[in-house]
Amino acid sequence: MSYQAMARRWRPRRFEDMVGQEHVARTLRNALVRGHLHHAFLFTGTRGVGKTTSARILARMLNCQEQDAELRPCGKCESCLEIEKGASMDVLEIDAASHTGVDDVRELREQLKYAASHGRYRVVILDEVHMLSKAAFNALLKTLEEPPPHVVFILATTEVHKVPQTILSRVQRYDFRRLTPLQVRDRLIHICKADGITADPEALDIVALRADGSMRDGLSLFDQVFAFAGETITADDVRRTLGVPDSASHTRLVEHLANGNIAGSVGEVHLALERGVDSVEYIRGFGEFLRNVLFSRMDGLPDGALSLMPERVAELREKTAKLSEGDILRWARMVSDTTQQMRDAHHPRLALEMAVARMACLDKVADLRRLLAGEALPALTPGPPIASAREGGNPALGAMGSAPPSRSEPPARPSRGPNLQQAVEGDPTLGRLVETFDATPTSE
Ligand SMILES: Nc1ncnc2c1ncn2[C@@H]1O[C@H](COP(=O)(O)OP(=O)(O)OP(=O)(O)O)[C@@H](O)[C@H]1O
Ligand SMILES: [Mg+2]
Ligand SMILES: [Zn+2]
Repeated sequence: MSYQAMARRWRPRRFEDMVGQEHVARTLRNALVRGHLHHAFLFTGTRGVGKTTSARILARMLNCQEQDAELRPCGKCESCLEIEKGASMDVLEIDAASHTGVDDVRELREQLKYAASHGRYRVVILDEVHMLSKAAFNALLKTLEEPPPHVVFILATTEVHKVPQTILSRVQRYDFRRLTPLQVRDRLIHICKADGITADPEALDIVALRADGSMRDGLSLFDQVFAFAGETITADDVRRTLGVPDSASHTRLVEHLANGNIAGSVGEVHLALERGVDSVEYIRGFGEFLRNVLFSRMDGLPDGALSLMPERVAELREKTAKLSEGDILRWARMVSDTTQQMRDAHHPRLALEMAVARMACLDKVADLRRLLAGEALPALTPGPPIASAREGGNPALGAMGSAPPSRSEPPARPSRGPNLQQAVEGDPTLGRLVETFDATPTSE
């Protein structure tokens, strides 16, 4: 049995079935009702938000033989059925990415001379229009400005900045919006109901957030999970299929970091990786988590600004209330540097572990800076975290943990203040930290 992907099977056939993009649907419908429809449109917006779908809906509305008073296409007439099957002579859907040349445009112009067969209009959908060559764009200008009366052009693109100004000034432009996680989730709930799928609310939350504003991405991810889990889907199924870390792990990690607990932090990362989470995915997710923590403290952010379901915002704010904004920002920067480094690293996992260990040392390092500058420090006693890292001898510490504890004093440097010297003598871990600090120029 052939399986049709969910994104295709659930492509809306009328504007009423579309999620969001009401501004587009409403303007187009009003123009149609009043008989003031423009002859050339440009639909722009990120991937999978309804551009091609809307172009096809408009084609149906223009050509349906039995639409109702609201101009909704019937879905049953010859014209509707042909468009549905992609077999209509009146709707030319052209992938501009593979028809980039000037000859392709000339051929199109030839075809447009003929009147529509069943329908009243010939609708040309030029998908990925930014891929056209310069010459092809030029060849299109004249037709776009004054097409035959029975022709409507719909250009679609994700990269509107690549479309020449000359084209832009000849079309009516519609900007499609990214969909919010809530909109994607509602659509998934609707589909689950219709298809008899039982899914944990959290499972759908994860998929909707991962869709990152694109309904197609949401449906494709959901398809993938469905293929793995079948008709009953748990949050764990989703995490396993998509390699998404459990956000609880990020909460625990940030707690360890705040306590300066190196062993705990690295251990937490280990646990996640052991469960099959990809290391890059883990750090990326942690960056997003920090962003959520920071933004959850701000009021009046638009829906969808956080990659978090609205009902979880208060909970996150409460759980992370103790974190200082300065620390969050510094960690966020380290996360972003680490993500970069991991892309080129031979051992991304090691890079991740070292980065997390550094993050847990953040306060120490910051304090050391002040010490190095000769400032007096109020509290020099090593906190519990470093102590526990030492005692635990956690293999998770990797290079840091396996380094032999250097009991010998580091060579005294004239630039170090007496406080530091004193502190280092009393604490070998601090001694090692100072060495690392001296050796690595940090951007902090
Ligand atoms: N606004 C929406 N409401 C409901 N479903 C949508 C919406 N947008 C996209 N989809 C779903 O995603 C699929 C792909 O949408 P569509 O082809 O319209 O995206 P697009 O904006 O043209 O993307 P691309 O730029 O990648 O071509 C549709 O078949 C449909 O299942
Ligand atoms: Mg498209
Ligand atoms: Zn019809």
